[in-house]
Amino acid sequence: MIHSNISDRFIFSDGQTRLLGVFGDPIAHSLSPKIHNLSLSKLDLNYHYLPFHVRPHQLATAVHGFKALGGVGFNATVPHKVPLLSLMDSLDPAALKIGAVNTVAIAKNGQLNGYNTDAYGFITALKEKYSETLSQKNILVLGAGGACRAVLLALLDEGADNIILANSTVTKAEELASDFNHHYPQTKITPIALDFLAIDLTHIDILVNTTSLGLHGEDNFPLSIEQLPPHALVYDIVYSANTQTPLQKLANSQGLAFIDGLGMLIHQAARAFQIWTGEEMPVALVKKHIFSK
Ligand code: ATR
Repeated sequence: MIHSNISDRFIFSDGQTRLLGVFGDPIAHSLSPKIHNLSLSKLDLNYHYLPFHVRPHQLATAVHGFKALGGVGFNATVPHKVPLLSLMDSLDPAALKIGAVNTVAIAKNGQLNGYNTDAYGFITALKEKYSETLSQKNILVLGAGGACRAVLLALLDEGADNIILANSTVTKAEELASDFNHHYPQTKITPIALDFLAIDLTHIDILVNTTSLGLHGEDNFPLSIEQLPPHALVYDIVYSANTQTPLQKLANSQGLAFIDGLGMLIHQAARAFQIWTGEEMPVALVKKHIFSK
């Protein structure tokens, strides 16, 4: 366990302890309190990070209540990331382009500053394991939901210039492609209908799953990936702290390089941590103690 790294602050708060947290519905599954409290404790920073079960109709009340209590900042997860946009006094460029807020910092004057650190988390985890440039790679992205917007922004900012966007509801892929093509006119983003049985994988260098498939304990991923070339990288933004994701099992069986969503989770948290505290999260410690599968 982690006892040797725990300072007294992890157990005791005092009159100067500052408040951080995460708002979600549901929230009980969240790993963010562990990630942040371990890091705060290790660096002996006098903050506590708590989970808050905030229902959608109470989001604005919760935000203003948190601010009234002198909270320093909070993360947001499903279903609050998009509704938070309209409650912010300022938005960073990533939150604007993604159209969602996952991190809020409350300034001393009460100003609510919205950030999105998901794209940073995605690309930082990718670069940890993949040293090649993204330019001239054929990248297939599955899904076109909220999480996909952060992934697209990250890929485009990193120089990707050929992305196929496959979604069951093809109109959503078309809307997303046209939205991002507008911001990144030199990139080819091709929307297609996701047909798991017919999709051509033979020329794909990087396959990214941003759908929620695998998030709810499914055993199988409905795609046959045998066609992928041996050099292909498979990146599933789904994660499980204890087991392999269904797509991970497939990638392993083919001997393909694989990244799951844990790195993205840790690095988006690390960026939020840095925004609130000005300090670097001890990422290696977090990986070792919370995610050693
Ligand atoms: P998130 O914020 O996690 O991205 P979301 O916005 O609800 O969640 O998006 C979920 C994504 O998973 C969508 O791309 C969805 O496809 P549709 O837009 O066609 O609904 C995709 N998805 C969910 N279940 C799926 C399934 N069984 N097969 C294929 N795609 C699925």
